[in-house]
Amino acid sequence: MAIRSILTAPDPRLKAVSTPVDAVDDGLRRLIDDMAESMYEADGIGLAAVQIGEPKRVIVMDLDQKSGQKNPRAFINPKILWASEELATFEEGCLSVPEIWDEVARPARIKAEYLDREGITQLLEADGLLATCLQHEMDHLQGVLFIDHLSKLKRSIALRKLQKAKRLRETG
Ligand code: NI
Repeated sequence: MAIRSILTAPDPRLKAVSTPVDAVDDGLRRLIDDMAESMYEADGIGLAAVQIGEPKRVIVMDLDQKSGQKNPRAFINPKILWASEELATFEEGCLSVPEIWDEVARPARIKAEYLDREGITQLLEADGLLATCLQHEMDHLQGVLFIDHLSKLKRSIALRKLQKAKRLRETG
């Protein structure tokens, strides 16, 4: 396993639309393991492959890691089959948008289908943080960041903050 560096906005590679996975094989499982390790290292709860520069439809999530035990879940080629009209608002952050948090409203409940790390089709009904996190990560597969859901003003403030932080890292 290897820790991979995570791309940060406004890196244009984050805008890529990820391609479907056609074989769940050992190579893909290695990618999933690298993603999980990189996510834990960065203290995140979810990561899409495109965030480490691999535009494939793969997501890793672990909502319980704060409890101390690691139980990463992989979602390959996820599809939303149904979304509630009712919305839920969570304060979101993103490893590719460091130091920025803001509220985003998304469908409160979803039904989704995906392949697990063995390549087996799984169905999922989710609400709460799981529903929000899955939708946030699935946005990454379309090249969409959570700040793209904010008002123009809030988004431009966030982008300015990001660019400033990036300049500081590069010069410092
Ligand atoms: Ni994210």
